[in-house]
Amino acid sequence: MGKEFPKGFLWGASTSAYQVEGAAFEDGKKASQQDIINQDSFEKFGFATAEVASDQYHHFREDIALMKEMGFNTYRFSIAWSRVFPDGDGPVNEKGIQYYRNLIDELLANGMEPIVTLYHYDLPWALVERYGGWLDRRVVKDFEYFARYVINEFKDKVKYWTTVNEQSIIVQYWTQKCYIPEDVLKDNQKRYQINHHMNLAQAIANKLVHELVPGGLAGAPLGYSPIYPLTSDPKDVMAMQNAQALRNDYYTDVYFKGHYNKAAQIYLEEHGLAPVMDEGDLELLADPKAISDFLALNNYASECAKWCGEGEKEIQWSGVNRSGKKGEISGFETHPGFYEMCANPRLDTTDWDWAIDPQGMEYMLRDLYNRYNKPLMITENGLGAYDTLTEDEKVHDGYRIDFLRENIKAMKRAIDKGVEVLAYCPWSAVDVLSTSNGVKKRYGLIYVDRTDSDAKQCARIRKDSFYWYQKVIGSNGVDLD
Ligand code: BG6
Repeated sequence: MGKEFPKGFLWGASTSAYQVEGAAFEDGKKASQQDIINQDSFEKFGFATAEVASDQYHHFREDIALMKEMGFNTYRFSIAWSRVFPDGDGPVNEKGIQYYRNLIDELLANGMEPIVTLYHYDLPWALVERYGGWLDRRVVKDFEYFARYVINEFKDKVKYWTTVNEQSIIVQYWTQKCYIPEDVLKDNQKRYQINHHMNLAQAIANKLVHELVPGGLAGAPLGYSPIYPLTSDPKDVMAMQNAQALRNDYYTDVYFKGHYNKAAQIYLEEHGLAPVMDEGDLELLADPKAISDFLALNNYASECAKWCGEGEKEIQWSGVNRSGKKGEISGFETHPGFYEMCANPRLDTTDWDWAIDPQGMEYMLRDLYNRYNKPLMITENGLGAYDTLTEDEKVHDGYRIDFLRENIKAMKRAIDKGVEVLAYCPWSAVDVLSTSNGVKKRYGLIYVDRTDSDAKQCARIRKDSFYWYQKVIGSNGVDLD
């Protein structure tokens, strides 16, 4: 048995609005871009839509009771902009905001600190129709309107605010996370333009938290994978540093240093991918009040990079595995003269080809803390897997327990070496609709009884990992067996 985690450490789990709530068109809510994107994945791949998801909208009290039973003292969730402002701006939807008042009050009444995410991929569809959504700078003003309202509404109840979810992943997988019209698909500069608009939005949200919330803390929840060199060949090590600059530092430098990473920015300029900026943008990013207080990390895997010579074929973006059969990932990024991503031959993967690497958790936490010296929180970490519900209504997910245990141990090793970690919120509290693979790829501690084609009643069933995590939390991280 190890030593305890620091006193007051936050133990919980995460979800996001469109992946868990359902009630997509209820009580005044209008479509978000995820309702449209998921309708399309339903038609193309047979994945569930966001219409019911895990139906947390109707099960939130039950879910909070189950989380309390596990011992949670925090819950990370997001607020659906299109529930609060169905048209993106204009009058508030009273029933929509009331849902979040009820949710937050229920959490507080049960001793759970809410960690709120302002934006998790679900832009109101009205704003896509009006001007193309995140592609257009007008979205920043509308985001400010939404964020100011929500932050003001909950300023006395919510201390921890996470801003825009996973900008790095939005750049890589933009069609899954944003609605991108056909005629824009080939214009890859737009990925970084969207990211720039999101950087302005997260800077504004940080400022609002610092101005409006007494003692409030803000930071971006970033999709982050540490990157290793394939070999100790100095060229591979250099490739690793280049990949690190473009895939990770390009985001974290903005959050903490208030400017874009130089090497990444130069690469983007040379390839015609750099975002167009307006006067005053760089000043906003560098405003001390816009600098993040912490970094919220969504970590699932590590990545691997190797050298790629000039003249090789260029592939700007990572592939994806839609089938859930190991080895069917559709490819790796290749940037001639900079780096090439590749599989790590030393690591096993999930059925969706995500490298399983708990050691990477310690590496990531120590590296980021050394470089930025700011507190870190884990807002996502988990194993996407096929779960089986047995006839006697049990889910024996020992593979998930193994994954989480090794990650918690690695996080503790980092803490024991001086890294300040505030919270551990694995993905996900209950099973949710995956962003890329429907509902059969499950992450939850609580099973939601539904399939891609049949939402059934979304009954909740405690998995083996539920009971295991309960022991972990009950012992403040000591009892991991
Ligand atoms: C993160 C997101 O990218 O990873 C979550 O913040 C997402 O929304 C999670 O669900 C797992 O990814 P996926 O594609 O397996 O659902």
